[in-house]
Amino acid sequence: MTRVAVLGGHGKTGRSVVAALEGRGAVGVPLGRADWPDLAGALRGCAAAYLVAPNLHPDEPAYVAAALDAARAAGVHRIGYHSVASPYAPSLPHHVGKAVAEDLVRRSGLDWTILQPGAYLQNLDLADPARPVRLAYRSDAPFGFADLHEVGEAVATVLLEPGHEGATYELATRRTSVAELAAEAGVGVEVVDPQEWAATDGAALGEREREWLLAMFAYYDRHGLPVGTVPLSALLGRDAEAARRA
Ligand SMILES: NC(=O)c1ccc[n+]([C@@H]2O[C@H](COP(=O)([O-])OP(=O)(O)OC[C@H]3O[C@@H](n4cnc5c(N)ncnc54)[C@H](OP(=O)(O)O)[C@@H]3O)[C@@H](O)[C@H]2O)c1
Repeated sequence: MTRVAVLGGHGKTGRSVVAALEGRGAVGVPLGRADWPDLAGALRGCAAAYLVAPNLHPDEPAYVAAALDAARAAGVHRIGYHSVASPYAPSLPHHVGKAVAEDLVRRSGLDWTILQPGAYLQNLDLADPARPVRLAYRSDAPFGFADLHEVGEAVATVLLEPGHEGATYELATRRTSVAELAAEAGVGVEVVDPQEWAATDGAALGEREREWLLAMFAYYDRHGLPVGTVPLSALLGRDAEAARRA
């Protein structure tokens, strides 16, 4: 059976990728911090590797460079890299880290595919009508949201099927806003001042993470994070947005 390593495979993205690989009859091999002391050893025997960095990693290019070195050493030539939509956004340090890492992937000499998902639909907790969604940016900002299950399916498609080497795909399931999603779910929205967020929800974070998220909220407030849905529909062989509207 085809074995595919998933770095960051125990996180929420990685679990979705592993599940999709297994759904296609492949073996998803989740790798985490415990595997890093001998990453090449952990990758050996895998047909491909999908590189997911932990959220807000302080030096994502270094993480990706080390993963690419390990893949080369292990003889794993097929690589997928989990980037983000609009990676070159100079005011967003975690996006810029992914832009730099994309360049490393493209110059790696390996057979690569880069996926650029929008914000996950699952980031929003819309389950409890009594609990409003708290946001530190305007609720009508335009987004292309990606469903995590569909992101996992897209990864399985590009790594298990031929023809995706050298391709970069942005991934979104649905173009909408938090306001629209909350209204559909019958949940209220509470927009808080970013400094209030920093003193409450963000208080437990490290200073760097808090500053990076405040920069992200400011960007979202001005621009949202629009992402097109066509590449994901094409990869999944269906019009996910139309199916959702039907
Ligand atoms: N949330 C979104 O809307 C969104 C949208 C687009 C892209 N993304 C990107 O998706 C990626 C994954 O996010 P996530 O929330 O799924 O990940 P995550 O849960 O933050 O982290 C994934 C895994 O990384 C491992 N890890 C943590 N620190 C590590 C380190 N220093 N070195 C090596 N491994 C480490 C952990 O596994 P172990 O415990 O096994 O070590 C963890 O389970 C991020 O790069 C994020 O930017 C997110």
